[in-house]
Amino acid sequence: MKLHRLSLFIPAIAAAISAQAAPKAPLMGWSSWNAFFVDISDSLIMRQTDLLGELGLADAGYRQVNIDDGFFGHRDSTGRMQPHPVRFPNGMKHVVDYIHSKGYKAGTYSDAGHNTCGSMWNNDTIGINAGMYEHEDIDAATAFGDWNFDFIKIDYCGAECDGLVEQEQYTKIRQALDRVRPGIALNICRWRFPGTWAEDIAESWRISQDIMNDWESIKSIVDLNAPLSAYCRNGHYNDMDMLTIGLRENTSLTGDGLDHTEESAQFGMWCIMSSPLLIGCDLEKIPASSLEILKNPELIAVNQDPLALQAYPAVREADGSGVFVKDIVRRNGLTRAVALYNPTDTAKSMVLRFRDIDLGGKVKVRDLSNRRDMGVFKDKFTAEIPAHGAIVYAVDGTRRLEPSVYEAEWGYLQMFDNIGRNNVKYTYDASSSGCMKVEFLGASPENYIEWTNVYSEKGGRYSLNIKATPECPLQIRVNGSLHEADSAADKLKISLEPGFNTIRIGHDTSVIPAIDFISLVKQ
Ligand code: GLA
Repeated sequence: MKLHRLSLFIPAIAAAISAQAAPKAPLMGWSSWNAFFVDISDSLIMRQTDLLGELGLADAGYRQVNIDDGFFGHRDSTGRMQPHPVRFPNGMKHVVDYIHSKGYKAGTYSDAGHNTCGSMWNNDTIGINAGMYEHEDIDAATAFGDWNFDFIKIDYCGAECDGLVEQEQYTKIRQALDRVRPGIALNICRWRFPGTWAEDIAESWRISQDIMNDWESIKSIVDLNAPLSAYCRNGHYNDMDMLTIGLRENTSLTGDGLDHTEESAQFGMWCIMSSPLLIGCDLEKIPASSLEILKNPELIAVNQDPLALQAYPAVREADGSGVFVKDIVRRNGLTRAVALYNPTDTAKSMVLRFRDIDLGGKVKVRDLSNRRDMGVFKDKFTAEIPAHGAIVYAVDGTRRLEPSVYEAEWGYLQMFDNIGRNNVKYTYDASSSGCMKVEFLGASPENYIEWTNVYSEKGGRYSLNIKATPECPLQIRVNGSLHEADSAADKLKISLEPGFNTIRIGHDTSVIPAIDFISLVKQ
């Protein structure tokens, strides 16, 4: 009876899903770099591929194998790249075919400039002139036409030395890839948020320097990603780098490794922040407890959630601890994923106030990290979060409340990059709300901050308060209509539509030194 009913629903669900653009969730797989650096070979890659299946990781969703730096041989007389003669004696296609035969995707690697990172940092001199610069078309044809890879990560060591301009060079590479096979997945590895242009070119972009095998590194990556939720959207993700879970026995990467609490925190934060999940350890030596963390289906579901949202910091303390939250299942619905994050060196009793995450009424709390129900609570939920810990929960409220505050660190900055091409930036400031503000907006029509998710249940008149440096003039656009203010102290009366609204603040000619947040009061 049940089965019969379900079968009636399935075509309806399938039709509803195919009517929308198919969600493209963050990549899940394994990558060779963290455990092996350039010391890779065909047999090693094939063995790790087998282990994805044998350990149940493929069934959990890890279905891509990325061959990072180290496979390059030499360019032949036509300029075509040949694989490393000792590490890959049977060629790259042989390995790619093997990965494909298991039903997985295969990823390759290059540099946007002349030389690879391995040639500069790992004495892999064979990587000199192995990068894509001035070989864009032939390398795209080799990797995707001849070798049949599905994905490419493109690094920047050589390009930095060559003094290339990121947007120009990555665009050139994107075009070369598209000439071979449109839509090949590309990761920009520029070690910092490269700029909003990246969304047109890549499926993910690294936001940090290389991950190290210690807690300090995890903490700094979470900090860098905390203000970047507005740049994450379906098919385009902030890449927090390859996971270090399971590397405990491994000494190649700097650091003493993570303990169980830290590994669980890393996985929780990578999942709730919708980072690609690339396992970086030697699967032959993975500890059982690390494997269990990586296979947690409830956290994986948070990472792969079809809304493709990245959690934003709802609350942030000066010691770095805080509450990160995102909608799952349905936008503005009653279910949200929440992380209580404690990067400090001492355990903390942390309070989740449901008002801070826009939920009202009775709230059901499930601990997804440890897979247990915590009960039903009113107003708040308190948990002891260990030092270097993060616990991710699913919370189900009975009412969704209208938010009244939008922090600057949740906003989208059209001209933001973290590589110093533009001045506008998110700045840590203990005296600002959420310990963060945005500096140096304005002075150009493009240099604005925008919130596209300003929610009003019924629509109507609101008073808009802007916490900014008061002396500067502001131009505010509410769903496109312009309001001018002489200073942030002017309390503007605005109209919101029912549902989601867009508020944009900038100034075409004057600089806005700093914005902390905006707040709305219904009239
Ligand atoms: C850079 C990247 C790493 C890795 C190495 C390879 O450091 O950031 O992820 O790909 O190069 O040399």
